[in-house]
Amino acid sequence: MTHPHETVHVALGDRSYRIEIGHGVLANSGAWISPLLSRPRVAVVTDSTVGPLHLDSLRDGLAVEGIEMTHLTLPAGEATKCWRYLSETVEWLLEQKVERGDMVVAFGGGVIGDLVGFAAAILRRGVRFVQIPTSLLAQVDSSVGGKTAINSPHGKNLIGSFHQPSLVLADVAVLGTLTGRDFLAGYGEVVKYGLLGDASFFEWLEINAPTLAAGDVAKRIEAVRWSCQMKADIVARDETEQGDRALLNLGHTFGHALEAATGYSDRLLHGEGVAIGCALAFEVSSRLGLCSQEDPSRVRAHLKAMGMKTDLSDIEGDLPDADGLLALMGQDKKVTQGTLNYIMARGIGEAFVTSDVDTDTVRRVLHEALT
Ligand SMILES: NC(=O)c1ccc[n+]([C@@H]2O[C@H](COP(=O)([O-])OP(=O)(O)OC[C@H]3O[C@@H](n4cnc5c(N)ncnc54)[C@H](O)[C@@H]3O)[C@@H](O)[C@H]2O)c1
Ligand SMILES: [Zn+2]
Repeated sequence: MTHPHETVHVALGDRSYRIEIGHGVLANSGAWISPLLSRPRVAVVTDSTVGPLHLDSLRDGLAVEGIEMTHLTLPAGEATKCWRYLSETVEWLLEQKVERGDMVVAFGGGVIGDLVGFAAAILRRGVRFVQIPTSLLAQVDSSVGGKTAINSPHGKNLIGSFHQPSLVLADVAVLGTLTGRDFLAGYGEVVKYGLLGDASFFEWLEINAPTLAAGDVAKRIEAVRWSCQMKADIVARDETEQGDRALLNLGHTFGHALEAATGYSDRLLHGEGVAIGCALAFEVSSRLGLCSQEDPSRVRAHLKAMGMKTDLSDIEGDLPDADGLLALMGQDKKVTQGTLNYIMARGIGEAFVTSDVDTDTVRRVLHEALT
C-alpha cells in the first residue's frame, strides 16, 4: 500500500529547510540527504533505545546513495541532555573529523535532537545537521524550529542556542515501536496545536485521534503534517521568540511546574504535563471570562477519551499545594523582569499571550484541582 508523502517548508530566508513526512522515509534517507553533502559520509548520533531498533534501516537507506555512516550511541533518557554527553558528542564528532562542510545527523527523540543540534551549533562554530526525529513529540515539535539545548541543575533547557537544521526527515513508520505512554505524551503536543491556533484541527483530532493512536498511517502523517505546518508558520513569523512563538508554550507554564514538582521523573512525562497544563490554561481562561465554560470541559473530555493524564489527580504521589505550584511557575523561563507571561485562550484555537492574569484566580483553580 502506498501512503501519502507530505512536505512542509520552513521559510527562514537562507536558513529555510524542508520537513519530509511519510511512511518509509528512512529507506529513502540517502536520496533526501545526498544533495546536501559535500562528501558521501555522515556522523549519526542516536540513543540506546532507538539505535538497536532503527539504525539498520537508516544505514541501508543511506547506503542506497553510497553514503557511509559512523555512529555514536548515547544512553536513552532526559539525563543525557547534560554537559557530560554534550562534550562526549562534540569530541566524538571531532574524532570523526567532521568538518564545516559535513553533515551531522540527530537520530532519536527530542533528547537526541536537542543535544546533537546544540553540539552541531558549537562544533567548529557551527556545522549543518539533519534531524531524523523518531518520537511523536520530536516529529511534531522539537525537531522543528531550531531550538537546541541541554539542561542545567538550575533548570531545563537553560544552556543552548538557536541552530536550524538543514532538513527534517519524519518517518511515521518508526513510531510503531514507541511505548503507548510515549506516544500519548507526544500526542499532548499535537492537541496543543489545535488548542492554540486551529479549532478545525482540534475538531479533526476529536474525530480521528482514536484511529490515529491505534496505528492508522495516513492519519499519523496528516497529524504530523498539520502540526509541523503550524509550527513552521509560527517559527517563520518569530524565529527567536520575541512574540508569537510563545503561543507554542500553551500549557507549558503549568506543565513545567508539574515536571519540576515531580522531579522530572517517570511520574510525569513532558507531554503529559503539557496536556494537563492545557486543561488548566483553559480552566483559568474560562474563570477569567475569556472563553466559555464549555471549552475546558471539551478539552478535558478529549484528553480523557484518549486515555491521557488530564487532571492533577492523575499524577501519582504527592504534589505541592497551590502556592508551591505557583512558586514553581514563577521559575519558568517565560518570566521576564519578574512578570509571568501566560498563554490564555479566548476559545479553542484562539490562544494569546498576556501578563494580565489575576494570580488569585490561578491559585483558586490550582487549589480546586488539587482537592
Ligand atoms: N527543541 C524544542 O523546540 C523542543 C520542543 C519540545 C520538547 N523538547 C525537548 O524534547 C525532549 C522530549 O522529547 P521526547 O519525548 O522525544 O524524549 P526522548 O528523546 O527521551 O524520547 C522518549 C523515549 O522514547 C524513546 N524513543 C524515541 N523514539 C523511539 C522509537 N521510534 N521507538 C521506541 N522508542 C523510542 C527514547 O529512547 C526515550 O526513551 C525534552 O528534553 C524536551 O525539552 C524540545
Ligand atoms: Zn513541549
